[in-house]
Amino acid sequence: MQCQVIEARYRELTSGSARAFSEARRWLPGGSSRQAGYWHPYPLTFVRGEACYLWDLDGRRYIDLLGNYTALVHGHAYPPIVAAARTRVDSGSCWAGNNEEQVQLARLLVKRVDSVAQVRFTNSGTEAANLALMIARRWTGRDKVLMARGGYHGSLMEFETGFGGATGPLTRIAQYGDLGEFQKVLSEQGNSIAAVFIEPVMGAGGVIPGDATFIEGVRQAAHSAGALFVLDEVLTLRLALGGRQGQLGVIPDLTLFGKMIGGGFPVGAVGGNQELLKLFNPDQPRIFHTGTFNANPVTMAAGIASVEALTADRIDQMDVLAEKLKAGLLQAAIKAGLALSINHIGSIMNLFFSESSGTAYGRRDDGELMARFHLAALNHGLFLAPRGLIALSTVMTESIIDEVIERATDALLDIASTGPRAD
Ligand SMILES: Cc1ncc(COP(=O)(O)O)c(C=O)c1O
Repeated sequence: MQCQVIEARYRELTSGSARAFSEARRWLPGGSSRQAGYWHPYPLTFVRGEACYLWDLDGRRYIDLLGNYTALVHGHAYPPIVAAARTRVDSGSCWAGNNEEQVQLARLLVKRVDSVAQVRFTNSGTEAANLALMIARRWTGRDKVLMARGGYHGSLMEFETGFGGATGPLTRIAQYGDLGEFQKVLSEQGNSIAAVFIEPVMGAGGVIPGDATFIEGVRQAAHSAGALFVLDEVLTLRLALGGRQGQLGVIPDLTLFGKMIGGGFPVGAVGGNQELLKLFNPDQPRIFHTGTFNANPVTMAAGIASVEALTADRIDQMDVLAEKLKAGLLQAAIKAGLALSINHIGSIMNLFFSESSGTAYGRRDDGELMARFHLAALNHGLFLAPRGLIALSTVMTESIIDEVIERATDALLDIASTGPRAD
């Protein structure tokens, strides 16, 4: 099927979203508040979500393979989360004093993640990364950050620079997986580096897992240089009860949390040992950190329900379904005569239309084909990230995965007729 035909079909099926987006463009710059929520020719406007399904303005149903970029680990409107949030809203949603829920959620996280003794909540992963950077700067008296080229820690200037693959006034970068390069930067410039930030699995970068030798090696190199080691588990906490750090046996100084710990509400958190977090002592604060909605009770109540429901069994069940989906997609690509490779760990994966797995940052050789598949998948009722990220949820079943494979096969056949190049 011609590329234009796929787009024409998309326009035909989603005229309500087209109209909604042109109205949105009048009032919002770029028509939205989120870069990752846009794709060409226009994003869908959704009106409802339930379990692993989303419905758009035109009444079309999509199987949601993204779960708001991994945050909705139990899908949409998961009944225990809805009940917890509703109960909380019914008796007041926020106030400028303490609430019991934040203590409970912090306790849950501390019990799960070995390196974490205490938790400080924020409203997003970006804010958590910013806060960890503030801690590191205050602790070390230095100002720079070292991160992986193409690593993602939210949309803060220092991290955005590295995500784009560049160094900046306060940002140094090294290649993910290349311990030697991290060691080199730290030995040459370590005395100005406050912290090394790293994802145990590069998420936005294309689901690229780091092995224990690399991650632990970076931790040691950071410490030798007197810098803090910050592990960003915003996306990876869903992979194991104790996060990816538990699987790797790595003990970071600070851990970033977000996404699934808020049960679908805005959230972020920094966890660490008590020595470091003493900086927040309210009687003699060495870091000024506050926020009207920090640890708001609704998010905290939803987060407790979300974390409690993510049991080891349900993580295993998602992993099994992910294996099945991956095998099915690879089989379907062979049937369609397309080169497809998949980076995969646990319940998350990233598709690449190439012979070998790639990275999702920088310019992708398969960018045009990926975009075409994304639209074709939407035409067949599948919702995944434009860059090919897929994240399963605990409410999926084998039969849903069968349906996904069937629909994906049709989408792959649609794009196959144009071959690997743009038409
Ligand atoms: C690893 C990682 N860190 C930080 C963030 C930023 O979180 P948020 O979007 O809540 O600001 C994300 C978001 O995708 C992420 O994947």
